[in-house]
Amino acid sequence: MHKEIEDILKRAKREIEKAKDSKTLDALRVKFLGRKGEITLAFKKLSSLSEEERPQIGRLLNKAKKEIDSLLKEKGKSFSPSERSLYKDGLGWLKGVVDPSLPGRRKIIGKLHPITKVMGEICSVFQSMGFSIAQGPEVEEDFYNFEALNIPPNHPARDMQDTFYIDDKILLRTHTSPIQIRTMKAQKPPIRIIAPGKVYRCDSDVTHTPMFHQVEGLMVDKNVSFSQLKGTLTQFVHKIFDAQTKVRFRPSYFPFTEPSAEVDIQCVNCRGKGCRVCSYTGWLEVLGAGMVHPAVFRNVGYDPEEVTGFAFGLGVERIAMLKYSIDDIRLFYDNDIRFLDQF
Ligand code: PHE
Repeated sequence: MHKEIEDILKRAKREIEKAKDSKTLDALRVKFLGRKGEITLAFKKLSSLSEEERPQIGRLLNKAKKEIDSLLKEKGKSFSPSERSLYKDGLGWLKGVVDPSLPGRRKIIGKLHPITKVMGEICSVFQSMGFSIAQGPEVEEDFYNFEALNIPPNHPARDMQDTFYIDDKILLRTHTSPIQIRTMKAQKPPIRIIAPGKVYRCDSDVTHTPMFHQVEGLMVDKNVSFSQLKGTLTQFVHKIFDAQTKVRFRPSYFPFTEPSAEVDIQCVNCRGKGCRVCSYTGWLEVLGAGMVHPAVFRNVGYDPEEVTGFAFGLGVERIAMLKYSIDDIRLFYDNDIRFLDQF
């Protein structure tokens, strides 16, 4: 029996050593020390031994039992508590596939592009003032983009250099103003819409990209006044930047508005003192606006004696650049995650 006990002990040692999880260890405890385990069965053979052998073998068996028991306990300690509870939940197969003691992996969630974000903010400011959203096609007819907007055929805005033409009569819209025409042709006054969207111009440098975004605004009703235009845009600037930002209207020219104005805000960088961002003028141009030209009303079948209106158009990239102090417009379209991640 000496040999037998030695053999059991050897195998027990080897198998416990090899065990990789507490489930295997439990099985080994049953195999060697359980009710029908090898050591237990060996104990049962004691009665068939001679008087001299019995105490000797008995001691040997007890020693082997203790040793196996302490080996099992030692090995059990090397498994982490979280792993032990894994087995209780029947997830033992995860061993080696995952390490449950590691912190969870964070999911990388996409974010809104800064332009989408700023465009959304601009829209909600105007929506809070009662404007609703209108849309139009990016591939546009010459009629809506130019003709109906009182832009004569020889106007410099039609220059091949600025406009992407598809053919004589079809082009990529150069501004969101054609949506004014489409909306007025489809609806009767009162009208109060904003139209966000992509526009295209053949132009590219640090402040221009061939595609950029505008938000158009149009309000038409009886007795719409220039002071309402001023109030609306001042309110808008105060909400997008802050209530201390000064707003200035400068006389300008657009074929589809009369009078027309360019709207400047106090430089957000230097607060009007003068710096590189504002070319030391203290002011930044942010949008074009004016009262809808009577010729435009006639083009859509409205009576300019009956209704008046204001319109404005602003560049979303320009607002975003000022809001976030970005000095190169092309950063928006490089799609560098390190840049986009910051918003
Ligand atoms: N469409 C003009 C532009 O792109 C902006 C504008 C819109 C001006 C509406 C006046 C009224 O520059």
